[in-house]
Amino acid sequence: MKRIRIAPPPPSANGRAILKIDAAPDQVRTGRVWVGDWVYDHGFTADAGAVAEMVASELITNALRHGGTAGGVIEIRAFLDLGRRAVVEVLDASDRPPRVLGDDLSGEGGRGLFLVRLAARELAWHPLKGGGKAVWCVLDAERE
Ligand SMILES: Nc1ncnc2c1ncn2[C@@H]1O[C@H](COP(=O)(O)OP(=O)(O)OP(=O)(O)O)[C@@H](O)[C@H]1O
Ligand SMILES: [Mg+2]
Repeated sequence: MKRIRIAPPPPSANGRAILKIDAAPDQVRTGRVWVGDWVYDHGFTADAGAVAEMVASELITNALRHGGTAGGVIEIRAFLDLGRRAVVEVLDASDRPPRVLGDDLSGEGGRGLFLVRLAARELAWHPLKGGGKAVWCVLDAERE
């Protein structure tokens, strides 16, 4: 088991796009497609958009399953950092830290953040002032 670094997200070069979804399984798709489209629309390749969708899907599903958001709302943010890389941030209602479980492929769960870490340049989280937290990652892709 590996701890994930605690840090606020990097500053934004372009403001933040925000989507709020109901914390419900049928909304995960809405969130991941929104993130993938945002990345593609901001000058990244279709492959980078697909990776962003996978990352968003894992983070949103975690907010739903582990993030104490039942019956509430999950906020998703997308923006460019100062190096013009895409940042994806997902907010939930729980103070419990996310963690990267082992790389035991036979395990039933614990794959999500392991994969996100492989796909991302940076993965971190930080507690929010009013409670809850944000889990965020900087994607590896450079803009075309
Ligand atoms: N948003 C979160 N809030 C609280 N705990 C989390 C959050 N995200 C992940 N965790 C914790 O970190 C562990 C690892 O997360 P990860 O996404 O890798 O695996 P999983 O969600 O258990 O299974 P999988 O994603 O493979 O279906 C989780 O089992 C959970 O204990
Ligand atoms: Mg998961």
